[in-house]
Amino acid sequence: MTDSLTLRRPDDWHLHLRDGDMLRAVLPETARHFARAIIMPNLVPPVVTGADALAYQARILAALPDGMMFEPLMTLYLTEDTDPDDMRAAHASGLIKAVKLYPAGATTNSASGVRDFARVQPVLDAMAEIGLPLCLHGEVTDHDVDIFDREAVFIDKILDPLRRATPGLKVTMEHITTKDAVDYARAQDDSLGATITTHHLVINRNHILVGGIKPHYYCLPVAKREEHRLALVEAATSGEARFFLGTDSAPHSDDLKENACGCAGCFTATNTMSILAEVFEAAGALDKLEAFASLNGPAHYGLPVNQDTITLRRTPASYPEKIITGVGEVTVFDPGFPLNWSVLPSSV
Ligand code: NCD
Ligand code: ZN
Repeated sequence: MTDSLTLRRPDDWHLHLRDGDMLRAVLPETARHFARAIIMPNLVPPVVTGADALAYQARILAALPDGMMFEPLMTLYLTEDTDPDDMRAAHASGLIKAVKLYPAGATTNSASGVRDFARVQPVLDAMAEIGLPLCLHGEVTDHDVDIFDREAVFIDKILDPLRRATPGLKVTMEHITTKDAVDYARAQDDSLGATITTHHLVINRNHILVGGIKPHYYCLPVAKREEHRLALVEAATSGEARFFLGTDSAPHSDDLKENACGCAGCFTATNTMSILAEVFEAAGALDKLEAFASLNGPAHYGLPVNQDTITLRRTPASYPEKIITGVGEVTVFDPGFPLNWSVLPSSV
């Protein structure tokens, strides 16, 4: 039995860092284990221009504690008014690594998202031309579509037509939650990648609802049936290049989660690597963890893999239950099982 596992330092290909006091509190939780992360632009107001992204990048770097290394990979929030020339310039300077598309109203802070996809076609065409990836929150927002079906309907109604209309566009299907998404991703060429979160590998919809409502398990896309969770575990542990880690770690203070209208988002930055080691070991696939967390993402984004490593040791891991922030406490995701793999402090 393996008791020690050394991996290239992992990256997180979908992360919410927020701003201000929350940013300062949660950034070390990611930077402790991860070298880089794709930073979601859904601030209020969102990060829509190159100038916004440059200013946000500076705030992130200023919030990084001394002695910690971390590279924020910046993104722009696509709106129907996004200027293709501003986007081209932000990409050419090396500032942005992706553009994020939220269907309007799909999730937290997505009011400025896209309603009419035809209006963003010139931006998508420019992205295909310059090789800039599109990150997609893949859920339709039609009120008559059941929330558990919104991802599968998005694939048929939006994603597939969008990719056909924009040949060569690199797309990341983010936080996939269904077997439908796994099957779709597998049937495409390598211009399509798919991220999988930590929590969707662990919980199904029963975990949210059985025995009382669990606000800290509520996120979007919402967790689906067990058969879908199993498909995600199979995909993540397959080692296939198209599947990689995007935690979607999304901090909200406890008062906003434990609320009559609770916010969506699970906070997994702190303990993700220990949880993943547990999930991959249970699947007999510890040897595939490096591909999922450290190798496949850089390949999709055309970036080098990290040179340094982290080491996990089979010894009980302990993490705080809550992160204290200047805007309230944030509950760390509880996987519901003991964590037997620790990330060695010497490697952080
Ligand atoms: C995210 C957030 O809180 O910003 N919430 C979530 O449930 N994942 C938004 C998102 O990525 O959907
Ligand atoms: Zn997200």
